[in-house]
Amino acid sequence: MNKVGIIGAGNIGCAIAKGLVNCKKMDASRIYLSRKKNNLLEDHKKRGFVVTDNTTIVKACDIILLAVLPHQAREVVDDIKALLGTGNKVLVSVVSAVTIQELQEWSGGVVPVVRVMPNTAVEFGAGMICIAGAHEASVDQVRSLIESLGQTMIINEQLMPAATILGATGIAFFMRFIRAVSQGGIQIGFHADEAGQIAAQTARGAAELLMQSDHHPETQIDRVTTPMGCTISGLNEMEHFGLSSAVIKGIVKSFSGISDLK
Ligand SMILES: NC(=O)c1ccc[n+]([C@@H]2O[C@H](COP(=O)([O-])OP(=O)(O)OC[C@H]3O[C@@H](n4cnc5c(N)ncnc54)[C@H](OP(=O)(O)O)[C@@H]3O)[C@@H](O)[C@H]2O)c1
Repeated sequence: MNKVGIIGAGNIGCAIAKGLVNCKKMDASRIYLSRKKNNLLEDHKKRGFVVTDNTTIVKACDIILLAVLPHQAREVVDDIKALLGTGNKVLVSVVSAVTIQELQEWSGGVVPVVRVMPNTAVEFGAGMICIAGAHEASVDQVRSLIESLGQTMIINEQLMPAATILGATGIAFFMRFIRAVSQGGIQIGFHADEAGQIAAQTARGAAELLMQSDHHPETQIDRVTTPMGCTISGLNEMEHFGLSSAVIKGIVKSFSGISDLK
C-alpha cells in the first residue's frame, strides 16, 4: 500500500487526509502532512498522521499531493523536483488554476502529473472529485486511492476551471442556500438548531432523490407542487426575486475570476 504525502495541509489537504482515514482507506500513519506552520498540525499528529517537512514527504511517499495556494505552487515544486523523479512517484495537484503542463515544466517532466478537483465533503466520503491527466496508469492509481472519498469523474483538463467552480466552490453556494432556508425556518416557527437540521437533511434528501432516480430536478418539483398550492406560490415568489438567475450569474461571475488566482 502506498504512502500519501500532502504538501499544504490546509483546508482541503486536511479534508482529504481525514477523509482517507474516516473512509478506512488508509491508516493515518501512512499519511504524511506538511504546512509552513507545522505547529498548527499538532491535533493531526495526535491522531497518528506523520507531520513533517516537504523533503521528507517526497522521499517517503509514492503519491505526493500538492494542496498549496496557486501562487505558492511553483516555489514548492522547485524545492522538491530533484527528488520527484526517484522511484515510481505520482504528483497529484488539487491547486486551482495551475495546469498539468505548468507542473510538468516546473518539475522537469520527471514525474507523472494528475490534476484533481475535490471539495471539502471528501472528509466524510461525500465529495465530488473531478480528475484529469494524460498518464492513464497514474490516473487509475489516483482514482482508486480517492474513490472512497465520494464520486469521481474523469474530465478533460480544459474543464478543470469549471469543475473548480461547480464542485469545489459549489459547496459554499449550497451552504448559503441551506442557511437561507434555515433562516426562513426560524421565521416560521423553528428554533435555529431545529431549522438548521431540517434544512440540511432536506437538502440531502433532494440530492438523494436526484442521485437515485436519475430524474431532472423539475420532475421531482412536480411531485411536490399541487395546483394553486403553497409550494408553487413560494417557488414562484423566489423566482420573481431572481433565484435561478442569481445562482447562474454567481457561477458565471466566479468562473470569470478563476484565472486571476495565480
Ligand atoms: N478549500 C477548498 O475547498 C478547495 C477545494 C479544491 C481545491 N482547492 C485548492 O487547493 C489549494 C489549497 O486550498 P485551501 O483552501 O486548502 O488553502 P489553505 O487552507 O490556505 O491551505 C494551503 C496550505 O498550504 C500551506 N503551504 C504554503 N506554502 C507551503 C510550503 N512551502 N510548504 C508546505 N505547505 C505550504 C499553508 O501553510 P501555512 O498556512 O502554515 O502557511 C496552508 O496550510 C488551493 O490551490 C485551492 O484552490 C481548495
